Amino acid sequence: MPQSPKEAFQAEARALRLRLEDAGRRAKNASALEDLRLEFLGRRSGALSRLMAGLASLPAEDRPEAGRLVNALKADVEDALRKLEEGFRTVEKRPPAVDLTLPGLQRPAGCPHPVRVFLKQIEAIFVSLGFSVEEGPEVETDYYNFEALNFPLHHPARDDWDTLYLDGGLLLRTHTSPVQVRVMEKQKPPIRMINPGRVYRKETPDPTHLPMFYQVEGLLVDEGVTFAHLKGTLEYFLRRLFSEKLKIRFRPSFFPFTEPSAEVDIECLVCRGKDSACRVCAGTGWKEILGAGMVDPQVLKNVNIDPEKYSGWAFGMGIERMAMFAYQIPDMRPFYENDMRFIRQFRNK
Ligand code: DAH
Repeated sequence: MPQSPKEAFQAEARALRLRLEDAGRRAKNASALEDLRLEFLGRRSGALSRLMAGLASLPAEDRPEAGRLVNALKADVEDALRKLEEGFRTVEKRPPAVDLTLPGLQRPAGCPHPVRVFLKQIEAIFVSLGFSVEEGPEVETDYYNFEALNFPLHHPARDDWDTLYLDGGLLLRTHTSPVQVRVMEKQKPPIRMINPGRVYRKETPDPTHLPMFYQVEGLLVDEGVTFAHLKGTLEYFLRRLFSEKLKIRFRPSFFPFTEPSAEVDIECLVCRGKDSACRVCAGTGWKEILGAGMVDPQVLKNVNIDPEKYSGWAFGMGIERMAMFAYQIPDMRPFYENDMRFIRQFRNK
């Protein structure tokens, strides 16, 4: 029997209710919910709007009942959507399920880097002697890195520092000596400072060279300062750092910013001069570890310190090279290869 318009309308409403139940069961998250809302309640093409439009084609006496049907259905749809939404909200708020039977994540304890440890030891010795610890920039101007340190432009001594130049007249500092100039510009004597920091050179890494390494600079300026003070201080420092009976020698050398200049060697702690094939000292029994000297009067003049009244001494040392020696490591590259098996060995040094 053909359906009357009223029956057809009721059948459509029933079908919609079934679809609502089915879709509600399948909606798994908030975005599926939004699709449902559009499907049923969308203004233009939502199922309820379409049903509502169908009212007009019903005979007038059937319309009130059909209207109530649509309204009840709409209320049910809204109710169902709200319940679903609440359900999702509590699910999304709930913390992710945790499987308490799984073993926990093991976070390995870190340890200080061996170069850091060694730097701290050096700093502690100089701080105990009344030195301050200063800092300076790693990107420098030619003036601080060279010129103020008495390397005139085009002076061949510059070739010994394999400089990495940057744009705009800047460079990566090749040594920590520029900090001497920066500190003397700001402080008046007496000055007693050390400056630990990174320096850069255009080097290919090999067992004894790195393009980035640490130096510690030292500077003392006061009245009546002599080379004897430099020698006494460095000897005291090196014996405290390495060993009480360490043999030390000063050799004449040249640096543009010191006069006279010296290089300082310590006895080879690996073979103590007894192995002519020693890999560390190449059989010489000595290892060069730092450069030093009396601050050149021209450098003092460059920072407006009167060289007639004041004198000073300075030194600069390469930290990885000394750490290599202290820890008896034949190659300095592993310091920066981030291999924890290497780094951890120095945990208790
Ligand atoms: N800056 C020098 C270098 O990198 C080391 C040095 C030598 C520093 C003598 C000094 C010094 O302060 O007096 O090779």
